Amino acid sequence: MEEKKKIIASMIYNALQNSDITIEEIESKIETPKDKKNGDFAYPCFNLAKVLRNSPINIANQIKENIEENENISKVEVVNGFLNFYLNSENIVNDVLKGIVEKGTEYGKSTEGNGINIIVEYSSPNIAKPFHLGHFRNTVLGNALYSLYKELGYNVTGINHLGDWGRQFGILIEGYRRFKDEYDLENNPLEALSDIYVRINKIAKEDEEVMNIARENFKKLEEGDEELTKLWAYFREVSLKEYNRIYKILGSQFDSYNGEAFYNDKMQEVVDILDKNGALIDSQGAKVVNVGDDMPPCIVLKSNGSTIYATRDLAAILYRTRTYDFTKCIYITATEQILHFKQVFEAAKHLIDAEHQKGLVHVSYGMIRLKTGKMSTREGNVIYVTELLDEAVKKAKDIIVNKNPNLENADTVANQVGVGALIFNYLKSGKNKDIIFDLDDTLRFDGETGPYVQYTYVRTKSILEKVGFNAENIDINSIDFNALKEKQEVELIKELEKFESIIRKAANDYEPSVLARYLIDVATAFSRFYNECSVANLEDENLKAARCVLVYATSIVIKKGLSLLGIDCPEKM
Ligand code: ARG
Repeated sequence: MEEKKKIIASMIYNALQNSDITIEEIESKIETPKDKKNGDFAYPCFNLAKVLRNSPINIANQIKENIEENENISKVEVVNGFLNFYLNSENIVNDVLKGIVEKGTEYGKSTEGNGINIIVEYSSPNIAKPFHLGHFRNTVLGNALYSLYKELGYNVTGINHLGDWGRQFGILIEGYRRFKDEYDLENNPLEALSDIYVRINKIAKEDEEVMNIARENFKKLEEGDEELTKLWAYFREVSLKEYNRIYKILGSQFDSYNGEAFYNDKMQEVVDILDKNGALIDSQGAKVVNVGDDMPPCIVLKSNGSTIYATRDLAAILYRTRTYDFTKCIYITATEQILHFKQVFEAAKHLIDAEHQKGLVHVSYGMIRLKTGKMSTREGNVIYVTELLDEAVKKAKDIIVNKNPNLENADTVANQVGVGALIFNYLKSGKNKDIIFDLDDTLRFDGETGPYVQYTYVRTKSILEKVGFNAENIDINSIDFNALKEKQEVELIKELEKFESIIRKAANDYEPSVLARYLIDVATAFSRFYNECSVANLEDENLKAARCVLVYATSIVIKKGLSLLGIDCPEKM
């Protein structure tokens, strides 16, 4: 579509014959009307009114008169100072469908990323604590961005910045010593540890004595005490085991699990560099970096000399700059950390070069609430993500078996549908929107859901199977796609055509919802088409072949689109 914009811009440019206005300026103002009644593209002539000293309507009419014919454009209309352009659908139909058939599952892929290094840091749960719905949203967002950037040809590194260091481990160690015998650590280590933490934390808050022991514990841990390091490694191991169970279900990939602990021995250098650069300032005994008047300073060392979360993030920035030489380093967290990252990124100015510093990006996402009950409280009333996943799969299975009692692999399909429904639900909302979540809504087969999109794919497959369509055997050049003239056909093809630019937009806006919503649009356009246009019962062999290709092309876009979101698609359901 970008290329069509260019064509239209040059048509307008040639018609205008005015050296004060550049093609680029014209192109940047070209819009795509929401309502297709107003054309595929529109150019508002209001921008020109001042320069040309004429009314927008007059200008629009003049341009229309002078515009030369172009094979890509079927019609130009003037409406209220807008020039509306209608694309020649015959051309699009051919280009798009042939392109999809030729590229197959590669459709949508590009090389524009040119192997440039991008880091996506995501998931990053805090060990010895449950993986809650926030981390789940984080993980599916990160997964999607990871895949989208890969699809665009970037060299992507996925990092799980585990929360595996900090004073809380001093507290947990004390709790573990006191209470471990009361728990089933064998079978439910994560639940046990998080419960232990909640209990001991309460005590430590009221009892200074306990807090001192905890401090002492962490200090020893920092210094590499053997027994405590062993305990810490055990906490980390059992946590990761549990998280990996979830990652496997979600198909998450990480190239590195270097979390906060990894930077324990890399923070001194940060302090030294900041100091050498004159950025480290004394503030009531603490060492801080000023980050502007509109934010509190970034604390690097507390008054007792200990490092904090931000110090580890600064060390990570230095390490990642050196190790990955990134163009972009994207951090995904909840909105609570917006200020933290603003401070840290600003402080990083004194640590790394401007180029890398500009590449630091924080992507935040809103809250998740359950329609009934609470998601998580500090008191430990938590919905475990594993439970939610199990529940979704169980419900999906009931629905599927009800709909299709003879389905083979019902368990596999239930997995794909249940898990896919959850992922889709989290990704279809804009990332900054809070989500009020209801499992039954999420699993509906009608409406804006994962199962609806998956089901549309399954429909395309069953149509193609019925007519015995085989993509490998078709002679694409023998089909006259101009036969696809119905409104519903053209609309569907126009949707399919957008795929590449949707992938680009979803990645560049850090907004997988762009792709999720697009897939709903494709599914809806497909339903409209299939309601109006028969595929199997056609006398006209050419029309039949053309429609089969359209159905096939739809199946490719949906399956590929879902997979970029991290969602598997059943072939039957
Ligand atoms: N572990 C943190 C949490 O669960 C998120 C870490 C975000 N990443 C970072 N580099 N600080 O809240």
